[in-house]
Amino acid sequence: MNHHSNQIIRISCCHICGYNIDSFMNFGRMPIANGFLKKEKFNSEYFFDMQVALCDNCKMFQLINQPEPKQMFNENYAFFSGTSKLMVNHFKDFSNHVIDDYLKDKDNPFVVEIGSNDGIMLKNFAQKGIRHLGIEPSANVAQVAIDQGINTTVEFFDKSLAERIVSEHGQADAYIAANVMCHIPNINSIVEGIKVLLKSDGIVIFEDPYLGNVIEKTTYDQIYDEHTFLFSIHSIQYLFNQYGMEVIDVEPQESHGGSMRYFITHKGKKSVHNTVSNQLEYEVNIGLTKVDSFSQFKENCEKYRTNLLALLNDIKNEGKTIAGYAATSKSTTIINYCGITADHLDCIYDTTPIKQGKFSPGAHIPVKPHNEFKDNYPDYALLFGYNHEKEIMAKEQEFVKQGGKWITYVPEVKII
Ligand code: TYD
Repeated sequence: MNHHSNQIIRISCCHICGYNIDSFMNFGRMPIANGFLKKEKFNSEYFFDMQVALCDNCKMFQLINQPEPKQMFNENYAFFSGTSKLMVNHFKDFSNHVIDDYLKDKDNPFVVEIGSNDGIMLKNFAQKGIRHLGIEPSANVAQVAIDQGINTTVEFFDKSLAERIVSEHGQADAYIAANVMCHIPNINSIVEGIKVLLKSDGIVIFEDPYLGNVIEKTTYDQIYDEHTFLFSIHSIQYLFNQYGMEVIDVEPQESHGGSMRYFITHKGKKSVHNTVSNQLEYEVNIGLTKVDSFSQFKENCEKYRTNLLALLNDIKNEGKTIAGYAATSKSTTIINYCGITADHLDCIYDTTPIKQGKFSPGAHIPVKPHNEFKDNYPDYALLFGYNHEKEIMAKEQEFVKQGGKWITYVPEVKII
């Protein structure tokens, strides 16, 4: 018998360049990260096999299998950007940066944002009377923006929508996006659309979780159904070069546990900052361009999983209580990959009304309103919202005063 017979090697095509890619890691059976559900839906819950690969040709880190976009972004989409104060401020700064550095001298500038969610970013443009258009496929979150007077269309962006926008509003001075580009499997069609939409001297500015941070901090929870890609400068450079565009600047961001902001123009329109070559060199040094170096990442994920589960089991064996804090999308990967169950966590406290009263995807841990946390402090709270650590620590001092302890898993599993 061939000793490889029960080894399944999946070969697929890279989303960007079509090159053959192999999965280097399988995170197992995963539900939809934002698929918070009621009991009646437990039996029909959707799962997929979450495997990741790095394309040897264009260097794009990507999921191999992914649910259809409509499974994830629909009228029930549970993610509302405006729920975090820190992010509200972050997007205000982002908007001011775009306005001050790229729109100030323009005559009646026009800004397009894709994945504009509840209008958290565009409201900063709307308030200043700047022409804007948000493109948001999830009807329920788009409605929140529309109700605030933010121009929004409920659609997926592509070349034909770009053509329609140009004929109705003219070309855009700026195309912006935050935590959206990495969600789009057919991203080539987005960039084709950008090519049509953007004025010859226009600027593309977007940010997403950065592969460099994920690898360095083992924040594998950035890998979930919605994140088709984790970008690096190498892969973004390749993607846009295909369409005659280039990265002219990059700026690391603290949001989402480490993100990167990319500045892109039509080729040859602006000088390229040396931040780009510096970051490219850094990526080569930490191994982001070689599939082989990802075996260390895989080992780290496995080690973190073992450590976290052992810690939770020890605490439960002592008869203590644990609750999850913030039902983030990311927590779906942690919970399901590590095998955390409702026996470990009594519930997860969260501020988003649409998640409350439902159950977490896959493990079916009850999600309760955040304001009940203070009435039922657990012995330990597992910090799923570690990217909001400062904001959360500041508002939950009473929990600690009453003897409560935090458990975190970034940058390592520990009690704080
Ligand atoms: P976010 O970091 O946007 O996570 P992700 O992108 O992984 O979904 O976190 C959003 C979730 O965290 C949302 O469900 C609200 C919740 N949250 C709280 O419950 N309390 C808080 O203090 C904060 C900041 C977030």
